[in-house]
Amino acid sequence: MDSTLPTVPNDLAALKSAYAADGWCRIPFRLDAPTVERIRDRVDAISAERRPEVVHEKDSDTVRAIHGCHAFDDLCAALVQHPGLVAVAEALIGGPVYVYQFKVNLKQAHEGAAWPWHQDFSFWNQQDGMKRPDAVNLAVALDPIHEANGPLTVLPGSHRLGLLDLPDPARASGDWRRHVSADLAYTVGTNTVDELARELGTALVTGEAGEIHAFHPSIVHSSTNNTSSDRRALLLITYNAVGNEPEAPTRPDFLVSRDATPVTGTADERIGTLGATLV
Ligand code: SIN
Ligand code: MN
Repeated sequence: MDSTLPTVPNDLAALKSAYAADGWCRIPFRLDAPTVERIRDRVDAISAERRPEVVHEKDSDTVRAIHGCHAFDDLCAALVQHPGLVAVAEALIGGPVYVYQFKVNLKQAHEGAAWPWHQDFSFWNQQDGMKRPDAVNLAVALDPIHEANGPLTVLPGSHRLGLLDLPDPARASGDWRRHVSADLAYTVGTNTVDELARELGTALVTGEAGEIHAFHPSIVHSSTNNTSSDRRALLLITYNAVGNEPEAPTRPDFLVSRDATPVTGTADERIGTLGATLV
């Protein structure tokens, strides 16, 4: 790790209060261009593999997402240990963390399909048995993200409302494919979203490649189809509080990590430098 690069934001208190109020915030550092390029290359290589972690859009060869890559790819394994990411996750959660989930949602040009309005914690709580929403998503843009390539849209402050519009447990789908497809098993209904959007407003999470945002497990969010000719790859690392591990998860381990070893935020010598710069 190049010691001249500021990898740990020095104003974690400001970040924490923005996150507590709004349920999302921009992280004041970004991955540099060569690092983003290296990750993009890995993502392309993994996407070409036929393995269960690679999920396609409905009835299509288009890759929608790749999952759990930190468990089998050296660069992704190093990324989850990035000292800046780990420091932010620990600050926002308030203690040691481990990696619960890792994915890259690719949202390919013209073909990448929407993510309906939902709360991540409904899946983690109802399907996996995660007790408290003491986790955080860190979302790293691997491509420039703009209004037309399907950015994440959040309802700021909605994370404080608890779980909304949960289906009858007997009717909730336990098929994990419906947890990663455009036909999501747990959604927040249009009426609820309209009402909340009037009250709370909406925010588009756009930005340059390398930029990073945090968002809360209970924030209501969605993203639209990619109608542009630009891919929108978004890499998402979910850190969970040590002590908040689900007891007996049943979904595949590439969706729910069984390895709750705390991440320490040390640079990984297998990989070398993962650069970051302040924004
Ligand atoms: C997206 O990739 O746009 C959706 C991400 C998420 O729902 O967590
Ligand atoms: Mn989500």
